[in-house]
Amino acid sequence: MSFENFAKKISRSLSDVKDAPFVKEVCKACSNMYRLGWDERNGGNISYLLEEKEVEKYLDTEGCLREIPMGFKANILAGKYFLVTGTGKYFKNVEEDPANNLGIIKIAADGETAKLLWGWEDGGRFTSELPAHLMSHMSRLSADPENRVIMHSHPTNILAMTFVHDLDEREFTRSLWRMITECMVVFPDGVGVLPWMLCGNNEIGEATAEKMKEFRLVVWANHGIYGAGKTMDEAFGLIETVEKAAELYLKTAHLPRVNTITDEQLKIIADGFHLKAKEGWLDL
Ligand code: 13P
Ligand code: ZN
Repeated sequence: MSFENFAKKISRSLSDVKDAPFVKEVCKACSNMYRLGWDERNGGNISYLLEEKEVEKYLDTEGCLREIPMGFKANILAGKYFLVTGTGKYFKNVEEDPANNLGIIKIAADGETAKLLWGWEDGGRFTSELPAHLMSHMSRLSADPENRVIMHSHPTNILAMTFVHDLDEREFTRSLWRMITECMVVFPDGVGVLPWMLCGNNEIGEATAEKMKEFRLVVWANHGIYGAGKTMDEAFGLIETVEKAAELYLKTAHLPRVNTITDEQLKIIADGFHLKAKEGWLDL
């Protein structure tokens, strides 16, 4: 440790990280997601890119409780800090016990090791979906340098829709856009869709990250959804809106369609809000 860091360390009294706004935000998100039925058991995971200046108010950023190999390279994230949910941890329990259910990691200089700064006190580790999360962070940061949150969950209606709807992402998105006027406002950039794949590995991580170059929302057929955002609210709001639209789709799919939102009307919405619908996805 440099003299400067040592001096900083002894001159500073660190606040309890459990009181940090970013920890509280993740706790609240997990509770809301659980209550909405999106995250049964340990289903779902969140990763939150933190600023060094936020972390150093609470933790020794040069410290390391444990080193955990990640099994993939995330070189451009070296030195970055993430608050991440733990693997096997129940979302319903996060708020009452963040120190066992969450962790704060710093990506080591090698880009393939996570240094644990806080959390997983029972010996736990980061979500098995860390590849999809960190690879998606890399994609989203290249599209939007302000992106900070990747959120994965298993919302009931989105999942159900992937069993009965064509998985072509243009068609899938168009069905969602037509369900609520606000959908075009919330996700004019559309929803990417991946076919069923085995989860928790680098392959699905790479496929998700490829979609995340283009989309802030990626559906995993027969599994769930990923949302990305500058804030927790943005990622949450994207998933929440798709889930509501999917519910409406399922409630009406078997009934005669008497009214709909036409492509002309979808264009009027986009124009009215000065947004651009994904190129070529409206039939006009
Ligand atoms: P983790 O418990 O490893 O976060 O996995 C949950 C999940 O949703 C897998 O896709
Ligand atoms: Zn999952």
